[in-house]
Amino acid sequence: MAISEQVRAECRQLMDRYPQDRSALVPMLHLLQSEQGMVTAEGLELCAELLDLSTAEVRAVATFYTMYRLRSQGGEHHIGVCVNTACGLLGGDAIFDALSKRLSVSNGEVTADGRFTLERIECQAACTHSPVVTVDWEYFDQMDIDKMMDVIDKLEAGEEVVATRGPAVRGWRAAEKTIAGIDDGLGYKSDAIDSLMLAGLNQAKERGETAPDPKDF
Ligand code: FES
Repeated sequence: MAISEQVRAECRQLMDRYPQDRSALVPMLHLLQSEQGMVTAEGLELCAELLDLSTAEVRAVATFYTMYRLRSQGGEHHIGVCVNTACGLLGGDAIFDALSKRLSVSNGEVTADGRFTLERIECQAACTHSPVVTVDWEYFDQMDIDKMMDVIDKLEAGEEVVATRGPAVRGWRAAEKTIAGIDDGLGYKSDAIDSLMLAGLNQAKERGETAPDPKDF
């Protein structure tokens, strides 16, 4: 699928946000894989052309970060199961194994019907809410096997699924566009801040601790 004029214009919008054009490369790659389902050779060349980089430099970034797909993502929904230490110990490994069995796929594979990609993922910086699963990069906190099977049931039935922190799951490609920073009107609507998220901040306040002034660095 050719890259649309709209996406080319959105790439230029991303460039306008940064003092140096090349800083737009990371969001630009997310935008292009939202459009094309993966980072294609055409996408790599467009980034290189717009940012005055070589395709080798663009490819180096695209192959470094695990969120970029250089092969077709396939699945409509990306299911990421955190299996780092906190999540793994508290049930992440068991959730992954149950999902792998239910969907008949291994790590990184797409289901036969093309609907789901299952992946082991690294720490999502949400260890307070372990075990964490992401669906299209939306957080599902403190999950267990039964809750995760319920999520899959609903997605398979085409029902709305709402993440623990508020947003409805919209599909992997729509999420990639949001990650790119293109305004989808959904920003900052979540009010899902809980006591676990604020525990460190509250403890610092109780102790009278304050952050150092950046000017002192
Ligand atoms: S280990 Fe899973 S969010 Fe940190």
